Amino acid sequence: MDQLIPIASKLQDVLGAVGQNTQLDLPQIVVVGGQSSGKSSVLEGIVGRSFLPRGTGIVTRRPLVLTLVNTRTPGEQTDEYGENQDPNHVMAAGDDEKGGPEWGEFLHMPGRKFHSFQQIRQEIVRETDRLTGNNNGISSDPISLKIFSPNVLALTLVDLPGMTKVPVGDQPENIEEQIHEMILEFISNPNAIILAVTAANTDIANSDALQLAKAADPYGNRTIGVLTKLDLMDPGTDAADVLLNRVYPLRRGYIAVVNRGQKDINEDLSIRDGLRKEEIFFKNHPVYATDRNLVTKCGTKILAKTLNNVLMHHIRDVLPDVKNRISTMMLDVQTELDALGSPGQQSRNTMGGTLLGLLSKFATNFGSIIDGKGGELNN
Ligand code: GDP
Ligand code: NA
Ligand code: MG
Repeated sequence: MDQLIPIASKLQDVLGAVGQNTQLDLPQIVVVGGQSSGKSSVLEGIVGRSFLPRGTGIVTRRPLVLTLVNTRTPGEQTDEYGENQDPNHVMAAGDDEKGGPEWGEFLHMPGRKFHSFQQIRQEIVRETDRLTGNNNGISSDPISLKIFSPNVLALTLVDLPGMTKVPVGDQPENIEEQIHEMILEFISNPNAIILAVTAANTDIANSDALQLAKAADPYGNRTIGVLTKLDLMDPGTDAADVLLNRVYPLRRGYIAVVNRGQKDINEDLSIRDGLRKEEIFFKNHPVYATDRNLVTKCGTKILAKTLNNVLMHHIRDVLPDVKNRISTMMLDVQTELDALGSPGQQSRNTMGGTLLGLLSKFATNFGSIIDGKGGELNN
């Protein structure tokens, strides 16, 4: 996400100067998948921070809407290529679970700042239990969490309960239906990018995640398949066929990841060390490390890069609209000036003109970045 953070904040600045709708409406990233397929772990890998409750069984029992807020003030951004940022994450990786210039705030606790990621996780658990009890109940009422940081891309990620069929504890008889409805509500949003998560040690043909994603996004334009738990596959088997899109083809294909396992979590393995472990797994694997078509589909880094690309293309797609907005504003200014009897020539130097110049410069720079990197998206 290294290049995207400064680009998005520059564009945000331009939009801010135009005055009107200053929000760059970036897509939401939504994870769907079976229970314990690794959805929460995948999100943590992308964000580069440990703060979500994870574990066996139904741990995520309410939707969590996670908004990342970039706290850099406009113009402060001088680091064109984000040298100080970890290139692989929406949030720069620092020391896990430590304070610093980052903090979290919950919608249900306005004004209270959480400086520790561990406390954020505890509050998610508490707030989940508050509404659903502690006997496996679920609720479609989302928990809203904002993370403020100078090193994040202004992005929204949504963690959802996993799909399950048989009710346990306080779950209603129609648990399967209720969870399906909850998930569909989020992934039907045309602005949602669906990360359809399936554990590699389960049968992909029966993946509920893929079936639901297909219902919401029939052409697969905004669905990315994510395979987890490659480290748990039976020795001698691998996920090559799935990754090469031969089993359940997706337009945008699949990316394989290895998240921290339960033992890693129990032993407090940091997210950084987890990512290192993942890298070593893929690097030493007799199949994934040797086929060039597979190397480019393995690892959380590649997943982050792919998302980066999707977002870049999204920004490129909204640029013409921004340009139109500025042109309209220029016309308005021109009309006003004409009405005042000012010479038309003068309006060439109005703010609108400056902004358009700025924007086309931006678009040119941005275009060259996209042209250099955009190829991966269309495979
Ligand atoms: P969710 O229910 O889909 O959100 O899944 P979680 O992220 O909570 O993970 C469920 C369990 O699977 C946890 O114990 C994780 O540690 C474990 N897990 C997730 N991904 C992987 C993986 O790639 N490899 C291994 N070994 N364990 C994983
Ligand atoms: Na789980
Ligand atoms: Mg979860």
